[in-house]
Amino acid sequence: MAHDEVVCGNPVTVAELREGETVLDLGPGGGIDVLSARRVGPSGTVYGLDAGPDMVAPARRNVEQAEVANTELLHGTIEEVPLPDRWVDVIISNGVINLSHGKAAALAEAFRVLRPGGRLGITDVVTDGEFDEERRRQAEQRIGCVAGALPVAEYRQLLAAAGFVGVSIVPTADHGDGVRSAIVQAVKPSAGAGLEIRPMREFDAAQVLAIYQAGLDTRQASFETSAPSWESFTAGRLPHLRYVAADAGTGQVVGWVAASPVSSRCVYAGVVEHSVYVHPGCQAHGIGRALLGAFIAACEDAGVWTIQSGIFGENAASLALHQALGFRVVGTRERLGRHHGVWRDVLMVERRSSVIGI
Ligand SMILES: C[S@@+](CC[C@H](N)C(=O)[O-])C[C@H]1O[C@@H](n2cnc3c(N)ncnc32)[C@H](O)[C@@H]1O
Repeated sequence: MAHDEVVCGNPVTVAELREGETVLDLGPGGGIDVLSARRVGPSGTVYGLDAGPDMVAPARRNVEQAEVANTELLHGTIEEVPLPDRWVDVIISNGVINLSHGKAAALAEAFRVLRPGGRLGITDVVTDGEFDEERRRQAEQRIGCVAGALPVAEYRQLLAAAGFVGVSIVPTADHGDGVRSAIVQAVKPSAGAGLEIRPMREFDAAQVLAIYQAGLDTRQASFETSAPSWESFTAGRLPHLRYVAADAGTGQVVGWVAASPVSSRCVYAGVVEHSVYVHPGCQAHGIGRALLGAFIAACEDAGVWTIQSGIFGENAASLALHQALGFRVVGTRERLGRHHGVWRDVLMVERRSSVIGI
């Protein structure tokens, strides 16, 4: 049976390319989007990366015929992108991620090569929900390109696990049998110069706990006096809502943010309590703001409607940071606990999402 052709969309329009940007097209095939991405102008650059041995040559011919100077076609896979870290401003792609056998690796690579604040603007094939094997086989026979298409919810999870925030997946054309084209957009969290905000990993444990202890030692962060073990830290915190700020050159962790659920009752499923710690030697460089900004965006992606925390009354810097990012003080718990022999007040702060559950 002949396959119906699935036209996903136009990633060049989706990504809203701007003059001077560096763009990477994942799987350009014949190179139409690479040519179209010329709108970045002579000060921009467009890379096309394709694994198909027969694909790069025609694309190269097309590009040569169009006499496009600032374009480079690379041979390789999207699961192992042959470009340095933080090299591109925008990633575009049309109908390719669904074909990948290593989608998590492909999205991790996309995150790696994007600059902080860089964006993903792609079009792809998705499914409305989980497909059993039979349903997938039937859809594949008629439509093609469906064998590896992800359900929207799983696509979102993979993007979040790679570290993307501001995730939006909007189904467009309906191809029947639960198969849709979709516009997929996401952003790599922005960070100050020389910094990167990325998901917290197991190998960050020692640095995260050292920063935790350094924060506790200031006596302004928490009633706790010693950082927990990694096992206890990790058991109490939500795996998808943890980020570190790291030096982009050395990889050294300079701050972190993480959240715990406030209750197991389902009515509180979207309420979390967070902590944000910046190494005392790196404060006042916007690291806390970058971490908290990324965390808030990730919370909104994850359907969290209220983020809450407690701040010692004397910790003016933390209060100012939280208020600048939309937290408000909902009350003061007076002389709530004794800390190093002193009774201390705690300001209860919360940020109510303006997009979830309004
Ligand atoms: C359906 S075509 C889409 C081509 C183009 N984006 C378009 O819209 O016309 C898929 C392209 O992705 C490439 N491709 C598939 N899997 C790939 C992978 N893992 N790494 C790099 N390229 C891949 C194929 O070689 C092919 O050129």
